[in-house]
Amino acid sequence: MNTTKKIRIFATEADAAKAVPPGTLRKLKIGAYTLCLANTHQGFMAISDACPHQLASLSGGTLNARLQVICPLHQKSYSLITGEEGSKRTPPAETFKVETTEEGIFVHIPA
Ligand code: FES
Repeated sequence: MNTTKKIRIFATEADAAKAVPPGTLRKLKIGAYTLCLANTHQGFMAISDACPHQLASLSGGTLNARLQVICPLHQKSYSLITGEEGSKRTPPAETFKVETTEEGIFVHIPA
């Protein structure tokens, strides 16, 4: 069984929305992980920041309405839900569960 550690990244949703406005992406370092946090129309979601194609920073890309992050270097798209790349010719990116509670915004990373 995979275990994860729950890390608080913002104290409130308002703090999170100020740092990462709706429709935008932001790079976040948490321990050994560098994530791309997305503020989507379905809430906050996270994916590994390093593009599996040639390691460009996905947080420098854009977010579309289909919950995909578009890499700024060669425009491959990665699902924030599954991590899969649109054409499936590139390995998927790792995704991370993001949880919003009254205690803040949390991301789950492998323990
Ligand atoms: S480095 Fe991301 S698509 Fe090529």
